[in-house]
Amino acid sequence: MFSFFTKQGPTTATINGQAIRVDSKETLLSAALRAGIDFPHSCRVGGCAACKCKLLSGQVKELTETGYLLSDEELDQGYILACQSVPKNDIQVAVDMDTQLLRRTVHGRVSGQEKLTHDITRLTVQLDASLPYKAGQFANLSLNALPGISRSYSFATPVQADAQVSFFVRQVPGGLFSTYINGHHLLGQQIDVEGPQGDFWLRPADAPLLLIAGGSGLAPILALLQEAARNNIKRPATLLFGAREERDLYALAEISALAAQWPSEFRFIPVLSQAAADAAWPGARGLVTEQLAALLPTSAHAYLCGPPAMIDSCVTILRQHGVAREHIHADRFTTLQDALAVSA
Ligand SMILES: Cc1cc2nc3c(=O)[nH]c(=O)nc-3n(C[C@H](O)[C@H](O)[C@H](O)COP(=O)(O)OP(=O)(O)OC[C@H]3O[C@@H](n4cnc5c(N)ncnc54)[C@H](O)[C@@H]3O)c2cc1C
Ligand code: FES
Repeated sequence: MFSFFTKQGPTTATINGQAIRVDSKETLLSAALRAGIDFPHSCRVGGCAACKCKLLSGQVKELTETGYLLSDEELDQGYILACQSVPKNDIQVAVDMDTQLLRRTVHGRVSGQEKLTHDITRLTVQLDASLPYKAGQFANLSLNALPGISRSYSFATPVQADAQVSFFVRQVPGGLFSTYINGHHLLGQQIDVEGPQGDFWLRPADAPLLLIAGGSGLAPILALLQEAARNNIKRPATLLFGAREERDLYALAEISALAAQWPSEFRFIPVLSQAAADAAWPGARGLVTEQLAALLPTSAHAYLCGPPAMIDSCVTILRQHGVAREHIHADRFTTLQDALAVSA
């Protein structure tokens, strides 16, 4: 049906002042890449937010629910995901190219592979050159053994002087990359690390910190806390770590070391959602969301990382308890399945 508001043929997208043609039904990202613009991107399926940009004028059809990845503040400001946006008419967008300038691919070799739990592996990589990043950010990993495939993983430590980086990779049932990492002997194998990416890092402030991690979402939280301790940040911190059973808890020695050196109050609360009723678990049970309200200093700044469903529930509770949305920082570990579920 004819629409007064939607151009049927190609449209023009002006990206940071440069006009390009976008074919009918083409996404902004694919048109930009086709035009030779080094537009920031990673997953191309609406799963990572690397392609976020600000829509200054015009309208787009969104292929997926972008509120899933973008914060309320970003949505209010008109941010869109270029890989999920098909222009309806001529548009103008602004994109921060600086992130792309800092991003590069560094070759490395797997120097450590350690099972942290039955389904999480710590992968350590000795890079050929240093790769500066902020604790909390992530990189795209690709292995020679899996050509053409790359997946995003958060750095699990702050930058190290010896150019070693590490990642916590949880095996996703049926998942290609994570099953390979968890199931194969990888020591010495070549691996490419492309980064840094993401805007999950500790913002300067004095407010108490509330950190919430689920599963392998502990990786960026731990990196962020270790960097804060290194920088002698004196903010009181509460770390909630959600897991299913006791066997799913890991990195407890690192967390104890952090607590011991933290220059202010440090509370660590592991919460088990599936601890058997008769298990001798002395700690908190249930979902992390059930612990939140009781623990929450309303002045806290929150940093959350893990499965999208956990993050969404926690954000709702934080907002209900008056935590300002600009003080809630979240990194969603979306998988292909999550992205497909949202677009369905
Ligand atoms: C910013 C960011 C940071 C991340 N950091 C981490 C991290 O530190 N640690 C971590 O463990 N993970 C992290 N992830 C998740 C990680 O990137 C991968 O998505 C995850 O490891 C799964 O990859 P995979 O190749 O094993 O699974 P995939 O092969 O991509 O499959 C994922 C799931 O989708 C299903 N699936 C695949 N194809 C289809 C299809 N066509 N239809 C329906 N279902 C399908 C699979 O069965 C599986 O259940 C992060 C993700 C993001 C976006
Ligand atoms: S490249 Fe668009 S969300 Fe990942």
